[in-house]
Amino acid sequence: MKVVIENLSKRFEEKVILENANATFASGEISCILGPSGGGKSTLLNLIAGLLKPDEGKIYFDKEDVTGWPPAKRHLGYVFQEAALFDHLKVKDNIALALEIRKLSKPERQQKVEEAAGLLHISDLLELPAGKLSGGQKQRVAIARALIIKPSLLLLDEPLAALDQDLKTALADDLSHLLHYLNITTLWVSHDLDQAARIAKHLYQLKQGTITNIDN
Ligand SMILES: Nc1ncnc2c1ncn2[C@@H]1O[C@H](COP(=O)(O)OP(=O)(O)OP(=O)(O)O)[C@@H](O)[C@H]1O
Ligand SMILES: [Mg+2]
Repeated sequence: MKVVIENLSKRFEEKVILENANATFASGEISCILGPSGGGKSTLLNLIAGLLKPDEGKIYFDKEDVTGWPPAKRHLGYVFQEAALFDHLKVKDNIALALEIRKLSKPERQQKVEEAAGLLHISDLLELPAGKLSGGQKQRVAIARALIIKPSLLLLDEPLAALDQDLKTALADDLSHLLHYLNITTLWVSHDLDQAARIAKHLYQLKQGTITNIDN
């Protein structure tokens, strides 16, 4: 599914975050979004997720105008900048949280949790409380939770920022292989141009209200 934003504008009071921004994010590919801190990267993801409303402009998923759709109807996975796990809950229950609103039998739920955990190589952690995990393991859990509904779109807001450099590289490579295999359209916010250039098919810069494609 491709994601199109058309003449999108967003202000917070006087502050212009997006001004007539246009971009097309390719179907089934990883697109990285770079830009200065405070430039509006998280705001852009929140607009696409439906957590914020644009002042002007449209958002399309393929040909469908989703601008007025509530978040749940958009059927996307979102790993927030501050990955929020419930430390006292087991890993399996953290992953299943995304399913709570959908009525599923216990075996169905368990099967989906096991499948998502398998993809992220965390099957052996399912019974542990999330508070016992390392930073890298926590990120894997947050990503498994985002993928469990089999979204057509995944939003990743600096998912690896908190990790040390070696782990960051390993997890970025691992994750980009997985996302290609799953063929999910992914918008990945990153501060790190080298990392972005390695994992992403397309690069975008968000700066001064405008989104620019900066592919080579
Ligand atoms: N709900 C809000 N109300 C008012 N201002 C906001 C709100 N959310 C974000 N902002 C402001 O909008 C600007 C863009 O914020 P945003 O979080 O989107 O930037 P960012 O590119 O994600 O930055 P970072 O790289 O630091 O995560 C910032 O100046 C921020 O303070
Ligand atoms: Mg941000």
